[in-house]
Amino acid sequence: MSEIRSVGVCGAGLMGNGIAQTCASAGLDVVLVELEQAPLDRGMSAIAKSLDKFVEKGKLSQTERAATAARIKASTDVADVKACDLVIEAIVENVEVKTALFRRLDEVLAPHAIICTNTSSLCVIELAAKTKRPDKVAGLHFFNPVPIMKLVEVVKTIATSQETVDALFAFSKKLGKEPILARDTPGFVVNRLLVPYLLYAIRLLEEGLASKEDIDNGMKLGCGYPMGPFELLDFVGLDTTYYIAEIMFDEFKDPMMAAPPLLKRMVLAGRLGRKSGKGFYDYA
Ligand code: CAA
Ligand code: NAD
Repeated sequence: MSEIRSVGVCGAGLMGNGIAQTCASAGLDVVLVELEQAPLDRGMSAIAKSLDKFVEKGKLSQTERAATAARIKASTDVADVKACDLVIEAIVENVEVKTALFRRLDEVLAPHAIICTNTSSLCVIELAAKTKRPDKVAGLHFFNPVPIMKLVEVVKTIATSQETVDALFAFSKKLGKEPILARDTPGFVVNRLLVPYLLYAIRLLEEGLASKEDIDNGMKLGCGYPMGPFELLDFVGLDTTYYIAEIMFDEFKDPMMAAPPLLKRMVLAGRLGRKSGKGFYDYA
């Protein structure tokens, strides 16, 4: 296909707003879609805050900031993505909800358009098979915080065409990211390694090995990680981590991937991490 110029992003949560911002920063026209106005407003204000940070650091001028923000159109109607060359889905990690959205996107988009999922753990081919364009469906897995993290995993299913993969590699580079190619297995490269580590940290806390603060300090000071596992769990979202663990365990039946009881209970209690104001740590 010809160059990707306009991008639709579905979901304005943690990942969706970062993806929309990053695309707009690269000069692309963006349509950011949510189900309702309130989460859309929250997503747009997260983008404004992040752009302000770049201005404060002297990495963006006020003029560039205004031009970037103006490239993002916010909408609560998914049909508004109809003219986009690429749509990136970044909604809740649930196969039924994502499937319904993929069916709708397939209806509204032009035949040349590519549809990608930012899923952390679901089978991309399951979503692709619900469309009439499985060759134009792939995973495009960004990392949190999207405007900062350099990596993008491009996930090729057994049906994704090489043309689509090439277009997504070129697109990722245009965003200033470094793409790597991964096969369509839950967790791809990074989460296959990262998720068992995060879950194991929770098991160590359950076991009483050390306090969460000491475990976090251990990994930061001993290994140079920017965040300890509990800080990172709160950052990613405990609900999202729980869904990812369930999906990965379902596929691999590896006990390392099973959600520890404490994680499930924290999600049931509404302690979702930074996004809810409380997780392993308090953000009130
Ligand atoms: N927008 C703009 N700038 C931002 C930002 C944002 N959203 N978040 C951080 N920054 C900037 C800061 O302004 C700062 O800039 P300077 O270096 O110019 O000063 C820089 O990034 C570093 O930020 P801070 O000083 O505030 O804090 P920090 O040094 O602790 O860095 C961090 C923050 C980049 C998030 C760092 O803690 C980090 O890398 N954490 C680990 C993140 C990680 O592992 N992400 C992957 C999660 S897993 C995933 O995404 C996959 C999945 O499917 C679950
Ligand atoms: P989030 O809970 O912050 O945001 C999800 C958003 O999607 C919510 O605002 C919700 O209102 C919206 N939404 C739900 N259904 C929708 C629909 N049909 N149309 C439009 N919007 C809809 O979640 P998140 O952390 O941004 O995760 C989104 C996706 O990205 C998940 O698949 C997750 O696995 C993946 N992911 C997350 C991270 C992370 O660190 N949190 C990293 C990489 C990938």
